[in-house]
Amino acid sequence: MPSYVIAGASRGLGLQFIKTLSQDPSNTVIALARNPSSVHPLLPSLPNIHLLAADLTDPSSLRAAAASTSTLTNGTLDYLLINGAWINLTTQSIAPTDLASPANEPQLLTDVDTAFKTNFAGPLLCATAFLPLVRAGQQRKIVVISTGMADAEFVRVAGVWAALVYSASKAAVNMLVAKLAVELKDDGIVVASLSPGLVDTDGTEASKKNFEMLMPMFRKYEPEFQGPITPRESVEMQIRVIQGLTMAHAGQMWSHLGNQRWI
Ligand SMILES: NC(=O)c1ccc[n+]([C@@H]2O[C@H](COP(=O)([O-])OP(=O)(O)OC[C@H]3O[C@@H](n4cnc5c(N)ncnc54)[C@H](OP(=O)(O)O)[C@@H]3O)[C@@H](O)[C@H]2O)c1
Repeated sequence: MPSYVIAGASRGLGLQFIKTLSQDPSNTVIALARNPSSVHPLLPSLPNIHLLAADLTDPSSLRAAAASTSTLTNGTLDYLLINGAWINLTTQSIAPTDLASPANEPQLLTDVDTAFKTNFAGPLLCATAFLPLVRAGQQRKIVVISTGMADAEFVRVAGVWAALVYSASKAAVNMLVAKLAVELKDDGIVVASLSPGLVDTDGTEASKKNFEMLMPMFRKYEPEFQGPITPRESVEMQIRVIQGLTMAHAGQMWSHLGNQRWI
C-alpha cells in the first residue's frame, strides 16, 4: 500500500499527480493544498484520495498536515513529492538588468521574497515536517519538482535570460536537495530534484505567450523540440522516474526523460 503526499496539489501538475496516482487503488494519495475547498470539486471521488490544507510557507500548517497524514498512514510515508511553486508570469519576461531598474526595483524585491520563500524555504519546511513519516516509510523518497531552467548550462546554450528570479529560486532548491541528500543518506532516504519538461498546465493566454517566447530558445538546446507536453504525459513519465530513483540518483536533478536532458 504505497503512500504519497503531493504538496501543492490544487492545479497543474500537482492535481495531475493526484489524478494519475489515485487510479491505482492500492495507493494512498494525500493532496496538500492552500485552499482545499476550491480543489475538492476538481478531484475524482475515490476513497484513496485525502485532501488536507497546507501552505508551503506556513510551517504550522505543514506540521498539522503531517500529523493528519500520520493518522491516515499509521505514521509512515513512502513518497513525499514537493510540487508547489511560485512564478510571476508578468515579470518573468523582463530582462535581468531591466528588472533592477528604478521602475522595477520594488517588484524585483517582492518577487525575490515570494519566490525564495515558496520555492526554496517551502520545500525545506515541508521535508522537515514530513521527515519522521518518511523515515518510517518503506520507499523513503523525497522528490522536489524543479526545472531545467535552473541549470546554468541549459541557460547558456539556449540563451534564456527570462525568468531570472524563478530560475534562481529553483537553483537554490537544487542546492537544498543536494544538502538534504547528504544529510539523510545514512537514513536510507533518497532526496532528488525532478524537472517535469515543458508542460502546458493552464492553457491561458499568458502561458501561451510564455511558450511562444521560450520556444526559439529551447530549440537552440534541442533542435527537435516539438513544444509543451500535457500534464498527463509529464506525470506518467515523472512517476516512472520517481519509482526508479535509487541512492545513486540522490542529490541531483533528473528529468521526466530519466536523464539530464531537460526537454
Ligand atoms: N509547467 C511547466 O512547464 C513546468 C516546467 C518546469 C518546472 N515546473 C515545475 O513544476 C511544478 C508545478 O508546475 P505547474 O506548471 O503545475 O504550476 P502551476 O499550475 O502554476 O501550479 C502551481 C501550484 O503550486 C501551488 N502553490 C503555490 N504556492 C504555494 C504555497 N505557498 N503553498 C502550497 N502550494 C502552493 C499552487 O497552489 P494555489 O492554487 O494555492 O496557488 C498550485 O497548486 C512547479 O514546481 C514548477 O516550478 C513546471
